[in-house]
Amino acid sequence: MLDGKKSLFSGMQATGTLTLGNYLGALKNWLTLHNDYECFYCVVDEHSITVRQDPAELRKRARNLLMLYLAAGLDPEKNCIYYQSHVSAHAELAWILNCFTYMGELSRMTQFKDKSAKHADNINAGLFTYPVLMAADILLFQSDVVPVGHDQLQHLEITRDIAGRFNAIYGDVFTIPEPYVGKVGAKIMSLQDPLKKMSKSDENPNASIFLLDKPDDIRRKFKRAVTDSEGQVAYRDEQPGIKNLIDIYCACLGKTPGEVEKEFAGLGYGVFKEAVGEAVVGVLAPLQARFEELSKDKAYVDGVIRAGAEKAGYYAFKTLRKVQKKVGFPERIK
Ligand code: TYM
Repeated sequence: MLDGKKSLFSGMQATGTLTLGNYLGALKNWLTLHNDYECFYCVVDEHSITVRQDPAELRKRARNLLMLYLAAGLDPEKNCIYYQSHVSAHAELAWILNCFTYMGELSRMTQFKDKSAKHADNINAGLFTYPVLMAADILLFQSDVVPVGHDQLQHLEITRDIAGRFNAIYGDVFTIPEPYVGKVGAKIMSLQDPLKKMSKSDENPNASIFLLDKPDDIRRKFKRAVTDSEGQVAYRDEQPGIKNLIDIYCACLGKTPGEVEKEFAGLGYGVFKEAVGEAVVGVLAPLQARFEELSKDKAYVDGVIRAGAEKAGYYAFKTLRKVQKKVGFPERIK
């Protein structure tokens, strides 16, 4: 709750280019939430440096990500869009929350286990405390809900635990956030291995659809998508490749799996894959066109960045000051 209105926070990492999974699982669900919530959408560039980044590349990706938020249809007049590194309260609250988080609970995080296996030469403390920074992101804005895909639910759970623990000691300081997971598209799988989630960092470029992929590349990737030999467009766990394509088709067109099964009954996988490719091209075309326009409008994007940092900073520091007071830091002398 902020100033009597329910509030919401979500963010994405500026590592790699956004995938269709990020879009259908998260971004697409964000677009109308400003009707019910004070919304904060952050480009979480501080989270990105838990793995090594090329500085120029990170800066470019962070800006592209922010422009993708806008291109997808987030209205900056109705949503606060900003860079995490522009509001130092994130890092400051994360430090305090570190002191209320246990090594044991952090070592149970599956993302930490996955990432440390993948970056075995760089298992840094930031990678370990990543969920605490995420908790700080969410709690700074007294968020009632956090819209995310399935893979972030464990981080939401630890955020709730940290907030509850803090509140138990100091009184009602933080709102305890609830996850908000979309009904369709919360777990989009790899097109090459439908048992694995679609990921920005997949080494096989055919496994993921990137939001700025050219239409022909999108069509080609769907044509090559791994399926099975059942030959029936059916929504069942035994056919994970087809199930994933049905999910994508439903999320793009607002249909239900049952309707899709009927639509493609008796038709081959070739026809279905082509239809899914077209549906995705159709959804991404306006986003790509808007992204092109924004790339040419530096002044407008800069204005959004400036205003976003100011508004986010106002609320974030309000919470941070309250927390600092609660834990016993000396008051500032005016
Ligand atoms: P990130 O950048 O990996 O992903 C951004 C959002 O996209 C969702 N997502 C997916 N949804 C469906 N299918 C997929 N294959 C798929 N892949 C990703 C994610 O669930 C997420 O909602 N730690 C976060 C970023 C973060 C954050 C936060 C999120 C930092 N602070 C506070 C919410 C609140 C992350 O790495 O997301």
